[in-house]
Amino acid sequence: MPLFKSVLFTLLLAVAEAATIAKNAYNCTSFIVHVPVNNVTVVVPPIPPFTDQHTATWFANLITEDFTLPQDASGAPSLSTLTTTFNISAEYCTPAKPGPKASTLQILTHGLGFNRTYWDFYLPSAPNNAQYSYINTATGAGYSTLSWNRLGHPPTTVANPYTQIQAPVELAVLAGLTTLVRAGNVTQVPIPQKVIHVGHSWGSILSNALAATAPTLSDGVVLTGYSHQAIFNALFIASTGLRFINQNQPARFPNSTYSTGFLTWPDKYANQYSFLEYPYFDDNVLNYGESGKWPFTLGEFLSAALVPLQAPSFKGPVLYLAAEADLIFCASNCTTFFGPTSAEVTAFNGSSSVETYIQPNVGHGINLHYNATGAYNVVMNWASRHGF
Ligand SMILES: *[C@@H]1O[C@H](CO)[C@@H](O)[C@H](O)[C@H]1NC(C)=O
Ligand SMILES: *[C@@H]1O[C@H](CO)[C@@H](O)[C@H](O)[C@H]1NC(C)=O
Ligand SMILES: *[C@@H]1O[C@H](CO)[C@@H](O)[C@H](O)[C@H]1NC(C)=O
Ligand SMILES: *[C@@H]1O[C@H](CO)[C@@H](O)[C@H](O)[C@H]1NC(C)=O
Ligand SMILES: *[C@@H]1O[C@H](CO)[C@@H](O)[C@H](O)[C@H]1NC(C)=O
Ligand SMILES: *[C@@H]1O[C@H](CO)[C@@H](O)[C@H](O)[C@H]1NC(C)=O
Ligand SMILES: *[C@@H]1O[C@H](CO)[C@@H](O)[C@H](O)[C@H]1NC(C)=O
Ligand SMILES: *[C@@H]1O[C@H](CO)[C@@H](O)[C@H](O)[C@H]1NC(C)=O
Ligand SMILES: *[C@@H]1O[C@H](CO)[C@@H](O)[C@H](O)[C@H]1NC(C)=O
Repeated sequence: MPLFKSVLFTLLLAVAEAATIAKNAYNCTSFIVHVPVNNVTVVVPPIPPFTDQHTATWFANLITEDFTLPQDASGAPSLSTLTTTFNISAEYCTPAKPGPKASTLQILTHGLGFNRTYWDFYLPSAPNNAQYSYINTATGAGYSTLSWNRLGHPPTTVANPYTQIQAPVELAVLAGLTTLVRAGNVTQVPIPQKVIHVGHSWGSILSNALAATAPTLSDGVVLTGYSHQAIFNALFIASTGLRFINQNQPARFPNSTYSTGFLTWPDKYANQYSFLEYPYFDDNVLNYGESGKWPFTLGEFLSAALVPLQAPSFKGPVLYLAAEADLIFCASNCTTFFGPTSAEVTAFNGSSSVETYIQPNVGHGINLHYNATGAYNVVMNWASRHGF
C-alpha cells in the first residue's frame, strides 16, 4: 500500500475508532429447536479419521489443490444418506416496541470460526457499545431476527465432523428451521409475514443453496462475505494447515467431545490474515475473536460442492454485500467480481432484483471491523427499499 494511502486511511480510522454506537432497546430470547433432517445426501469421507496432525496437514496439501476431492476412481464421490433430529440453539430478537417491520424475520446464519454471536458481537470491556452488533442495527431498523448455532456449536448438537457436519446437512437444518418457524412450530417466534435469509461466508453458501433448493421458503436473500469464486478458499485452507482444535485450544475443546475432524487455524495472526483488513480493526476485537473462536470441520470442505448455488426459481430480491478485501472469496480484492454477467448475479436469473455492494475497508469478517455498522446500514436500506 502506498504510504500516502496508509496515512490517509489512518486518519479515517481515527474517526471510525472514536465512534461508539448506542444500544437500542431490543429483547432476545434463546431456546432449543428440535430440527429433523430426512434422507439427506452426505459424502463418505475418502480417508479414515486423522490419527495425528501430520496426516491432517498432509490432507491440507491435497485439498489446497482441489477441495472437492472425495472421489472414487470413476470421479464420483461416494455418497450415503442421513436421517436424524438435531438440537439447534437459536435466539429470537425483536424491538422492545415492535412496529410493522417486526413481522419481517431475518434468519441469520453464521460462517466458519464463529457461533451465532457473530451477529450480536460485543466486547466484554464495552458491553454498551453496539458498534459490532448486526442485531442491534436490524432491530433498531424495526426488524426481528433469528440467529442460530450451526452444528458443532453447543448447545446445538456436536455431531460427527467427518460424516454429519456437512454442507447438505446444514442446508437441511436451515430449511427445516425455516419451515418450522413459518408453520408456527417454534413457540417463541411469532409466525413471520416475510422471511429474509442473511448469511455470512459459509452461512451465505447455505442461504444461497436454500434459495436454490427451496425457493419458496425465502422472500429475500442477503449474502455477505461471499462470492462464487471458490478457488480462493484454498488460501484459507493453506493458512490453517488444518490444525486440530483439541490441541490448539484444549481447555475449550477437549478431545473427548471434539475429535480430529474439528479444525482451526494456528493463531491470532492467521485469524487476521483470513478475516480482517489492517488497520481497520481493534486488536482487542481480534484477541477476543481468537480466544472465543469455533472450529470448522473436515466434512464441510469435503461436501461443499454438493449444494447447488444456481437459483433460477428464486423470485425475491438478492443483495450481495462483499467485503472489499475478502481473502477467502476474492484473494483480498473483490472489486472485479459481481458484474452483471458474473456467476454471482446470473445464479439468480429469475430474481426480481440482484444488487451488489462492495463494503470498503473490511476483510472477510465484516462484523469485526470498525465500520461494521456502515455495512449493516447498507443491508437495512436495501431491505427497506424492497418493501420489507
Ligand atoms: C433417499 O434418497 C435417495 C436418493 O438420494 C432415494 O433413492 C431413496 O429412495 C430415498 N429414501 C427414502 C426412504 O426416501
Ligand atoms: C421487551 O422487554 C421490556 C422489558 O422487559 C418489556 O417492557 C417489553 O414489553 C418487551 N417487548 C417485547 C416485544 O416483548
Ligand atoms: C438433544 O437434547 C436432549 C436434551 O438435552 C438430549 O437428550 C439429546 O441427546 C440431544 N440430541 C442430540 C441429537 O443432540
Ligand atoms: C408443527 O405443528 C403442527 C401443528 O401444530 C403439528 O401437527 C406438527 O407435527 C408440527 N411439526 C413438527 C415437526 O413439530
Ligand atoms: C486427549 O486429551 C488428554 C488430555 O489432554 C490427553 O491425555 C490424551 O492423550 C488425548 N488423547 C488423544 C487420543 O489425543
Ligand atoms: C458463542 O461463543 C462465544 C465465544 O466463544 C461464547 O462466549 C458464547 O457463550 C457462545 N454462545 C452461544 C450461544 O453458543
Ligand atoms: C483491486 O483491483 C482493482 C481492479 O483490478 C484495482 O483497481 C485496485 O487498485 C485493487 N485494489 C487494491 C487495494 O489493490
Ligand atoms: C436461468 O439459468 C438457468 C440455469 O441455472 C437456465 O436453465 C435458464 O434458462 C435461465 N433462465 C433465463 C430466463 O435466462
Ligand atoms: C462505512 O460504510 C459505509 C457504507 O458502506 C460507507 O459509505 C462509508 O464510507 C464507510 N466508512 C468508512 C470510514 O469506511
